[in-house]
Amino acid sequence: MNAIEIKSLCKQFSGKRMTKVDALKGIDLTVEAGEVFGFLGPNGAGKSTTIKLVMGLLRPTSGTARIMGIDAAQAESRRHVGYLPENPAFYDYLSAEEYIAFVGSLFKMDGNLLAKRSEEVLKRLDLWEARKRPMRGYSKGMVQRVGLAQTLVHDPDVYILDEPMSGLDPIGRALVKDIILDLKSRGKCVFFSTHITDDVEKVCDRVGVIVKGSLVALDRVENILRSGVEGYLVHLQLTEPESRPFAGISAVRWSGVVSEYYVPCAAFNSFMGDVNASGSTVVLVETKRRDLEDFFLSLVRSGQES
Ligand SMILES: Nc1ncnc2c1ncn2[C@@H]1O[C@H](COP(=O)(O)OP(=O)(O)O)[C@@H](O)[C@H]1O
Ligand SMILES: [Mg+2]
Repeated sequence: MNAIEIKSLCKQFSGKRMTKVDALKGIDLTVEAGEVFGFLGPNGAGKSTTIKLVMGLLRPTSGTARIMGIDAAQAESRRHVGYLPENPAFYDYLSAEEYIAFVGSLFKMDGNLLAKRSEEVLKRLDLWEARKRPMRGYSKGMVQRVGLAQTLVHDPDVYILDEPMSGLDPIGRALVKDIILDLKSRGKCVFFSTHITDDVEKVCDRVGVIVKGSLVALDRVENILRSGVEGYLVHLQLTEPESRPFAGISAVRWSGVVSEYYVPCAAFNSFMGDVNASGSTVVLVETKRRDLEDFFLSLVRSGQES
C-alpha cells in the first residue's frame, strides 16, 4: 500500500478583489511505505498547500489525497502520522516536556511508555536541559526542535514534515538529517518539503520538484545525478614533453607532468581512441556533472518563463 497517495490534486484560493490563486494545478504523486521523499520547490510553489491538503487541514478544490489508503478528510488517516507544520507555534506557557506529554495523550499513549519516549526524544533533539522551562523563552531553533520531537514521540509510520530544517543552524540541520536517515533505516516513510537542494541530496530516495503549483520533475536522486553527466576531465601522462590535442580537444591545464582535458560525453570515444593510439597513459578520469542545485535552478527558471 502507498503511504501517501495524491491524485489530480488542485487547490484554488480566493485572492484579493475577487481574484483566484491557483496554488495547485493538478498534482499526482505517490510515496511508498519506507521511502524518504523530498518535496523541493521555491517559495510560493505550493509545498505547504500540498502538505495541508494531505493533512486534511485544507479541502481540495478537486482531486484526492490519502494516507495509508484513507482519505485525508477522515481523521483516522492521521492516526499513524507525525506532522511538523511550517513555522510551528506552540502554547508557549507550556514547557517542552509538558507539550510532549500533551501530544502523547492525544495519541492515547500509555503513561510509562510516554515517559520513556519523551525522555528519548527530548534528549535526541537536545532539549533535555531546557525541558522544564516555558517555551516562550526558547529560541527559534529550539521551537523547531520541539516541533520535530512531537512528531517522533508516538513512533508513527509516516512523517510529514514541512521544511524541517528551516530556522536551524548547521548542527541542527545535520541532526535533522540524521533523524531522517534513522527513520529510513527503521522502514518509516518520510515526506518532507524544502527549498534547499543540499537537504535532499543525501537523505532522499526520490525527489519531486514543484514550481508554480505543478510538479515539473519526479525521479530517484541517483537518476537525476546520473542524467546530469556532461563530460569528463581526463588527466593524461603524455609520451612527449609538449601538451597536444587529441581528437581536436586541447588541454585545459598542463603541469609538464600531467595534462588535463575536458572531454564532452559525445567526444569521449574518439578522444580515448586518439589517446590510446598515441601511447599516452590515463592517470585519472573525473566525471563532470551538473549537480542537483543546477538541475533545480534550471527547472525553476524554465517554469518561471512559462
Ligand atoms: N490561505 C491562502 N489564501 C490565498 N492564497 C494562498 C493561501 N495559502 C497559500 N496561498 C498562495 O498559494 C501559493 C502557494 O503557497 P504555499 O503552498 O504556501 O507555497 P510554499 O509552501 O511552496 O512556499 C502562493 O502563491 C501563496 O501565496
Ligand atoms: Mg511553505
